[in-house]
Amino acid sequence: MTNSAPREVVLGVTGSIAAYKAAEIASQLVQRGIKVTPVLTTAACELVCPATFEAITGNKAITRLFEPLSNPEIEHIAVANRADLFLIAPATANILAKAAVGIADDWLSTTLLATRAPVLFAPAMNTLMYEHPATQENLRILKQRGCHFIGPESGRLACGTVGAGRMADPSHIVEFALTLLDPRNDLRNVRVLITSGPTREPIDPVRFISNRSSGKMGTALAREALFRKAHVTVISGPSEVAMPYGVEVLYVETAEEMAQACATRFSECDVFIAAAAVADYKPDHVLDTKHKRSDGPLRLSLVENPDILGTLAQRKAPHQIIVGFAAETDNLLAHAREKLTKKNLDFLLANQIGIPQSGFGTSTVRAYLLHASGETADLGLLPKETVAERIFDRVAELIKKRTATQGASSL
Ligand code: PMT
Repeated sequence: MTNSAPREVVLGVTGSIAAYKAAEIASQLVQRGIKVTPVLTTAACELVCPATFEAITGNKAITRLFEPLSNPEIEHIAVANRADLFLIAPATANILAKAAVGIADDWLSTTLLATRAPVLFAPAMNTLMYEHPATQENLRILKQRGCHFIGPESGRLACGTVGAGRMADPSHIVEFALTLLDPRNDLRNVRVLITSGPTREPIDPVRFISNRSSGKMGTALAREALFRKAHVTVISGPSEVAMPYGVEVLYVETAEEMAQACATRFSECDVFIAAAAVADYKPDHVLDTKHKRSDGPLRLSLVENPDILGTLAQRKAPHQIIVGFAAETDNLLAHAREKLTKKNLDFLLANQIGIPQSGFGTSTVRAYLLHASGETADLGLLPKETVAERIFDRVAELIKKRTATQGASSL
């Protein structure tokens, strides 16, 4: 999320057993610099303690409708006006029903009527309650009205049954909330396809050739595009880094698989960003059984993998923007400029490898942004999140410029 203005979330906690997970949500939001006003319904107070939320957020937990009259800070209309997001997690069947028909009989339901901020519900309830036509109808009404939903997921519920009704993962809820809180929307309706992470080229059933890419850069790009409201698809090699909620992820293993997945998605995308560290070579054949030391030396013959970026760039439609990466230990700018030209890219992010804090697996990178026009911007050593922001600033600028040119030529 952009760091500009501090943002405020009203965290409504209702009476589901998942209420204890709301403390984790509050904590994660606070850690990202967001002001959280906790609101607990009477039923929630039977399950969790308001003091927990006060300690985590540093703000008074609102529990009763009339108490706030003495405190203008938490008066319901004032909060309704100033909140940037209402997040109801967990949301019971009861609060969904009240919100759908406009019942205002406690602080939370009353303020929900008064706010014009976006509302995000994270439902949690017994499967039968969730599947009941009344609940389904309430969900339909609220969705139609523009409310956002995350979950519920299927799994084992506190009541012992297995089925739909479990609250979504707190980290996913926070990710979704952060997307809604980010005011930027300059990539709305833009379809972004990103390659991320390493590829693995098998030698035998237990060994492979790979590299040190962690997937951090690809994840930062995906998150940034999502915050700016793009539709994001990531084709990722094996990675431990979790992709943000809301991103469509296709996991692959080899360069061939990555090439195939990209080829099927490429024509649908407006922006293609190749951040993956694709293995340039693979063994010319894969052993069926594990090679043992007693079998003697293991000699590999390597053949080239397909050049995913180079191949797709040749199919580039006029509206598409293509961004490449280059990771080099020496002559970075010369090699990067050569790749930019040879692969017909709009621009390219060059990473310096072989210096501390930069490149594979790190959280920061020493980077340059090279444009097809010939210009080179020295970005310095930056967090990968900031590099992603700079890349999408440039993408958004290019889209705006092209749209303006198309508009002018159609006059
Ligand atoms: O995942 P992290 O740990 O965060 O690290 C991020 C990163 C350093 C891997 C990333 O920022 C990066 O620089 N990726 C490109 C790495 C690379 O080795 O590039 P290259 O010079 O081999 O390839 C140039 C471009 O062609 C890249 O956009 C690459 O994705 C693409 N390529 C390369 C080979 C190939 N067979 N197909 C490709 O599409």
